[in-house]
Amino acid sequence: MYDSYLTSKIPKEQKELRLQQKAKSIWMTGLSGAGKTTLGLALEKELFHRGFFIQLLDGDDVRLGLNQDLTYSAEGRTENIRRIAEVNALFNNSGIITINCFISPTNAIRQMARSIIGPDNFIEVFVKASLALCEKRDAKGLYQKARQGLIKEFTGIDSPFEEPEYPDLILETTSDTVKQTLQRMVDYIIPLIQYNPT
Ligand code: ADX
Repeated sequence: MYDSYLTSKIPKEQKELRLQQKAKSIWMTGLSGAGKTTLGLALEKELFHRGFFIQLLDGDDVRLGLNQDLTYSAEGRTENIRRIAEVNALFNNSGIITINCFISPTNAIRQMARSIIGPDNFIEVFVKASLALCEKRDAKGLYQKARQGLIKEFTGIDSPFEEPEYPDLILETTSDTVKQTLQRMVDYIIPLIQYNPT
């Protein structure tokens, strides 16, 4: 009895009970410049202030550390998302909610993430903005460089972006304000992450 107590794992459910939340992965997909990071940061603050325990994972950060060895080729992007999905599974098993901001450009890549994380834990949010608008915003100057041929395989220019087929939520960042889209996310996500013992 005592031996098995020492050697068994603490189940995810007990960690969720401790944190009083359901551990889910909120997965934001969309073009560079669509607003994933802006909305991810806003959502993280909002959920944190409401008492949830969250970890934000963002493409620009993860590619500077964990995934600094990867390119933007199809293979590089697949490995990028595979590792991130595995990291998500670890966080989820610790009872922690994650917010992910990754282009994750194809249905196959997002499907891989969904199956690693587990379909019941995966909330797919399509951050939708036209390529024209993302290019016009060009906050990091990357679209201009891609058009000049200084960056190769840039999503939307010479690398594909497939719109998700059945996202759980679509946020139109072309027409709606950050406040409006944040409210829509909060209304949708809170019931899914609230701790409701059955
Ligand atoms: S993903 O396609 O593998 O999911 P990820 O979200 O990690 O991409 O990284 C996207 C970020 O990397 C962009 O927001 C942009 O700042 C930067 N970036 C640099 N090169 C590229 C490129 N060729 N295509 C897309 N994004 C790029």
